[in-house]
Amino acid sequence: MGRFITDDKRTHTCGELRADNAGEDVVLMGWVDDRRDFGSLLFLTLRDRYGVTQVTFDRDSHPELFAVADESRPEWVVAIAGTVRARSGGINERMATGEVEVIPTRIEILSRAEVPKFPIRDEVDASEDLRLQWRFLDLRRGPIQRNIVLRAEVTHIVRSFLHDEKFLDLETPILTKSTPEGARDYLVPSRVHDGQFYALPQSPQLFKQLYMIAGYDRYFQICRCFRDEDLRADRQPEFTQIDMEMSFIDVDDIIGVCERMMARVWKETRGVDLPLPMQRMSFAEAIDRFGVDNPDLRYGLELCDLSDVVADSDFGVFSGAVKSGGRVKAIAVPGGAKFSRKQIDGYTELVKRYGAKGLAWCKLGDEGWTGPITKFFDGDAQAAINGATGATAGDALFFVADRKSVVSTALGNLRKSLAADLDMIPADEWRFVWITDFPLLEYDEDDKRYYATHHPFTSPHPDDFELLDSDPGKVRARAYDLVLNGNEVGGGSIRIHDTQVQSRMFEVLGIDEEEAQEKFGFLLKALAHGAPPHGGLAFGLDRLVMLLTGAGSLRDVIAYPKTASASCLMTEAPGPVDDDQLKDLHIKLRRPSE
Ligand code: AMO
Ligand code: AMP
Repeated sequence: MGRFITDDKRTHTCGELRADNAGEDVVLMGWVDDRRDFGSLLFLTLRDRYGVTQVTFDRDSHPELFAVADESRPEWVVAIAGTVRARSGGINERMATGEVEVIPTRIEILSRAEVPKFPIRDEVDASEDLRLQWRFLDLRRGPIQRNIVLRAEVTHIVRSFLHDEKFLDLETPILTKSTPEGARDYLVPSRVHDGQFYALPQSPQLFKQLYMIAGYDRYFQICRCFRDEDLRADRQPEFTQIDMEMSFIDVDDIIGVCERMMARVWKETRGVDLPLPMQRMSFAEAIDRFGVDNPDLRYGLELCDLSDVVADSDFGVFSGAVKSGGRVKAIAVPGGAKFSRKQIDGYTELVKRYGAKGLAWCKLGDEGWTGPITKFFDGDAQAAINGATGATAGDALFFVADRKSVVSTALGNLRKSLAADLDMIPADEWRFVWITDFPLLEYDEDDKRYYATHHPFTSPHPDDFELLDSDPGKVRARAYDLVLNGNEVGGGSIRIHDTQVQSRMFEVLGIDEEEAQEKFGFLLKALAHGAPPHGGLAFGLDRLVMLLTGAGSLRDVIAYPKTASASCLMTEAPGPVDDDQLKDLHIKLRRPSE
């Protein structure tokens, strides 16, 4: 066959050739995607990340080439030199290169492959575990490859946007001290310092603040964060943030940059013009209307507060809840009168998982309500509730009576479930909303103390500063989250830049001087050495890409993700280590059985 094709350069990718290229001599390299044998004709399609191209072998004219092609199998890597020809058998509309085929003059097998554990196709039956175990094969599949490529596009757009906006791409340490984002730390034992540990960063929070104090007034980093927390479809133990911080700014400046960045990403990846400015809603309004702080605004089903309407109701569950300081709220479900008893039992189980004691319900017909609680509500009472909720014949009403937080959480989650079941969620709609004015502090009933809702460096709202003494739970934070279609995609705040305010904050959080010095002494020192007003935000890159691609899980947009039990099925991490390694680290294992 003469000299090797690999001495030549690849001239085109497998996604590139069109009718215009007919007559050209080309060299293609890629994986055998498909191999169809028609006796004297054999079609190989070659695949790379750009697409597939058909190569046609004719036994009669080139028996020696045909023999090599005939030996090849899916996923082998081959090089082909040949001439482009307009397809003899008509255009294949399903391939971008479907106008042409390559008639080979040489073929060379670069690498053989074992039979893959599952076919490299868009649709496969293989379980997710098997795909994660053989991730390098899974990454060859179209759907996952498109996600990974889009992710790379997004990071490129973000970097170029932030560079244009004068942000510096700056790094921060991975082996560091614990950062207070509220999850458990991943710890790394020190060999040099007996019994001491580094923590992997939950975020670069403190380091980015130090950059501000050092005068680098616009920072960003696309960085890995590590949090040992319970995992869900939208949480990974290591995930990626687009982390940002700015000096001499206010909330509107930060929100403005972020909105323009989102608009650029959506325009360049999806061709969509996001309307700016984006909607804003206070935390209090979000909880009141939607029950959650990450409301999905693509559909209605808002919560309606009936506490006043039912305060004197004959139904003890309702009036009792109001008397003991709780709330009664309802969701009116359009068309809900057709729910079966089984469906309603399902929703009752759902709200109970969120702490509700039950789910009261009724269906609205032309003759008034039906359902178990009807007997407690006469015509006037029914009319008052119908009027308040806007429910009409054919609808159902679902009520929860309880402490305010339970009512919100239970109905907020019921709302999501109802919208999905009733197909009320429009596709291809992007509903961004900034949630603002979060409470600065959350009271923990069990620990009998306050915790920072965001983190302890978040600035209180200047108007609420006095309340820190009298009613800390009422203090609003200068914090904001960006929510997209019901998912928190980013969050941040204006930071405290004054040592006295920071010390006061630690006091309210029950962190004494000694603990504050031990944990954050370096930050307190820095604050005392000329700190500019500053603030920032971090986006969850994985979540953004998950939403952009419509993927159902973060695992579909992370090349090498971990499972729900935080393991990597491909590398089998985490794994055991040698006794010698443990000895070096001064670690002795105590197994749970000992
Ligand atoms: P926060 O903790 O809100 O803020 O994190 C910012 C964003 O990161 C994403 N995110 C996650 N994504 C995947 N898996 C996880 N386990 C996970 N945890 C969080 C979310 C979230 O909105 N230092 C602050 C930011 C700041 O104040 O500037 C911080 O880390 O999309
Ligand atoms: P009961 O009086 O316990 O038989 O409950 C009557 C109906 O009210 C049932 O459908 C219960 O699920 C519902 N229910 C009970 N407690 C509550 C509550 N706190 N909020 C809403 N509905 C409730």
